[in-house]
Amino acid sequence: MFSSPSGAVGDGPDDDASGAALDLTDPAAFVEHDPYAYWDRMRRADPVRWHPPADGRPGFWAVARHRDVQACYKDAARLSSARGTVLEVLLSGGDSAGGRMLAVMDRPRHRELRQAMLRAFSPRVLGHVEQAVRQRADALVAAVVGTGEADAARDIAEHLPLNTVCDLLELPVADRPSLLGWNKRALSSESAEDDPFDALEARNEILSYFVDVVRERRRRPGEDVISMLAGARVEGEPMAEDDLALNCYSLILGGDESTRVTTIGALHALGTHEEQWHRLRTGEVAVRPAVEEVLRWVTPAMHFARTATCDLRIGDAEVSAGDIVTLWNTSANNDPEVFARPRTFDVGREHNPHLALGHGPHFCLGAFLGRLELSAVLDSLVRRVKRIEILAEPPRVYSTFLFGHSALRMRLD
Ligand code: HEM
Repeated sequence: MFSSPSGAVGDGPDDDASGAALDLTDPAAFVEHDPYAYWDRMRRADPVRWHPPADGRPGFWAVARHRDVQACYKDAARLSSARGTVLEVLLSGGDSAGGRMLAVMDRPRHRELRQAMLRAFSPRVLGHVEQAVRQRADALVAAVVGTGEADAARDIAEHLPLNTVCDLLELPVADRPSLLGWNKRALSSESAEDDPFDALEARNEILSYFVDVVRERRRRPGEDVISMLAGARVEGEPMAEDDLALNCYSLILGGDESTRVTTIGALHALGTHEEQWHRLRTGEVAVRPAVEEVLRWVTPAMHFARTATCDLRIGDAEVSAGDIVTLWNTSANNDPEVFARPRTFDVGREHNPHLALGHGPHFCLGAFLGRLELSAVLDSLVRRVKRIEILAEPPRVYSTFLFGHSALRMRLD
């Protein structure tokens, strides 16, 4: 049924409902087409599909079913993160931070560094951050209620995640606008014309910023996460300055982008599903399941990727050592084998084992924080807002990795 990496391309479900081909390496594919019909067909016809090489870049596997995606996330021994976990990066030769940054590292080093970083996410540290998150979310929502047109991105979502991670890392308020600007350029683009080197430049800006911060904290350690990491030992050694900077970068990037687009997505989903907003607002449904449904509905990280360390079977497909394997969260989170009526936004969904935060050894380190930020925004909306009105179709983020909207014109009454 499945063609091998070196073999010919089979007749896969390579078109969406409109009949146009969906090239998973092309950001335009995700903006110009509705990918859900494509994933539906693929889960049924070719659930572990070989995407052929093109333009001198290697081919890769695309895994679509929930059960296969979940099993792959768990199988860190045979599916490595160390060459990179984002398709675009792997197709361009791999991640230069491989083996040095938590997300792109394998055991045993991954386990040790994760343990050290988890200390920064302990209830003691986060208890302090939680109060600040709730206050900030409430102040942001309060500032736009009843004031006419607002932008969910500019007025709410942009401020919350970045400031939360910055609080955790104790970064000066004056530095935060630059960090936000670099972050937005680093992972995604807002139009097809954007220069890919711009993203690279933005990543370098963030890294060199953190190298300076790390040096400063080594000289004058405080109680913050960066000082704590700077003093930690991994595999018996203190971490190199560059590696510390890389791991700060991963927190700021992971902490900002995905939570930001999910917050915008929450407002969009609630504004376009009036009956669901009513259920939440009147208390018929609690905020906690609504947060999980927002995560599933938006699924901001459309995929994560791995590299096979040996020959293995995924579903019916024979994957060879060295092959790139992409795990499509968007598809898994809409798999009708697991989710009843998956394209229905249901804030009270009872069985919701979504993979928006990953699964297994690399499960999102910031899951508690991400969920906290989303629930803080929803709590504040429930308390203060009667009606969420969406004023225009929002522009989509231009990316093969990140799903969401870069702006959302709305009115909160
Ligand atoms: C890992 C999604 C918020 C930091 C992950 C992974 C996913 C994910 C899917 C797994 C990656 C993989 O398996 O390769 C999200 C979503 C978020 C969110 C949807 C919000 C809605 C955050 C926040 C932080 C963060 C707030 C930090 C403050 C990280 C880090 C990892 C990670 C460091 C790597 C963990 C490891 O490799 O052990 N995230 N994330 N994330 N996330 Fe998040």
